[in-house]
Amino acid sequence: MDKVILAFSGGLDTTVCVKLLEENYNLEVITVCVDVGQPKKEVEKAEEVAKQLNVKKHYTIDGKNEFANDYIAKGIKANALYEGYPLSTAIARPLIAMKIIEIAEKENALAIAHGCTGKGNDQFRFEAVIRSMSNFKIIAPIRELNLTRTEELDYAKKHNIPLSSDKLYSIDENIWGRSIEGDILENPANEPPEEIYEWTATGENANEAPEKVAIEFEKGIPVAINGKTMSLLDLIGVANEIAGKNGIGRIDTIENRMIGLKSREIYEVPGAILLIKSHQALEELVLTKDELLFAEFMSTKYADLAYTALWHEPLREDMDQAIDHMQRRVSGKVVMKLFKGSIIPLSRKSEYSLHDIEHVSFEDKENDQKEVEGMIKHHGLQANIYQKLNRKES
Ligand code: ARG
Repeated sequence: MDKVILAFSGGLDTTVCVKLLEENYNLEVITVCVDVGQPKKEVEKAEEVAKQLNVKKHYTIDGKNEFANDYIAKGIKANALYEGYPLSTAIARPLIAMKIIEIAEKENALAIAHGCTGKGNDQFRFEAVIRSMSNFKIIAPIRELNLTRTEELDYAKKHNIPLSSDKLYSIDENIWGRSIEGDILENPANEPPEEIYEWTATGENANEAPEKVAIEFEKGIPVAINGKTMSLLDLIGVANEIAGKNGIGRIDTIENRMIGLKSREIYEVPGAILLIKSHQALEELVLTKDELLFAEFMSTKYADLAYTALWHEPLREDMDQAIDHMQRRVSGKVVMKLFKGSIIPLSRKSEYSLHDIEHVSFEDKENDQKEVEGMIKHHGLQANIYQKLNRKES
């Protein structure tokens, strides 16, 4: 029998997919769960459910360090935010897809399958990577059969499929963030209940006193937090904790999805916001005005490519080169103040600082202020002439 590799989380969609692939597509199913920092019990649940479903084989792949070093690091260097969202789900997908391809090659599979519906962005993200990086046939059972969530539940019941989850919401979680969707959250008029949040405090129950946090960067990458040097993966964990308890990183937004739908999305991304804001604070000190303007432009484009499933678009690699070149000078230390949801820089220091303390000082005598007079006469010359003409006409 031909084999299919299924990207598997153990949730409703992918669980139903196992049976559909066996019955409707006549394939032997191998499930793969890539650990990108979702709760440990979910990785274990995927293993258990796969066993209960009697799949031919199940793989658990630890992708956490690779996710941090090869994907999130790029997101930090680029300050990648799509409509304010730090792309936690979006940048995990290319890594998951690559891991699935590896297994499909090893297992000599006929096809790769995913459990995405036809409404979201993830179907594009998985398929774009699988199509550009391999020749495997792609199967998307939920979308192909146009199944609703209720139909999936009925199908599961009819086929005695074990459903371990009675979760109301659709939650996607990894080390870079947590996204909560579905049920009453679908209607933007409904206020989200406090219970949906797990990583972030509200202003009301956040730390009562402000907290300072020091982040050190080397070439754009955070390498130490509060004086402790650690791997990016561990540092993100610490950043999530510190920022989360100070109420940083709650986002409730109306997002523009790829197929044109507007959708209400809720994120908890405390560490991502802390690290990106600190990174930006350091860039302000070491990059020129033109570099900053251009970096901002690249940032928007970078995030758009990552969001819209174009991770393997050559422009992304072109931008990586330009960004890495700029990041050579983004080394130094930033101290941020966190307090009940607000985050501001307190101090920044770098050996590459372009800030000239003597020149900018009001006490400076060496640079003669009068020298600016020549420049000032020419500043806005064309606007000046235009307005003179205007005044004459009226
Ligand atoms: N809207 C986000 C994205 O497309 C997150 C989707 C996460 N999915 C979920 N079921 N919570 O990247």
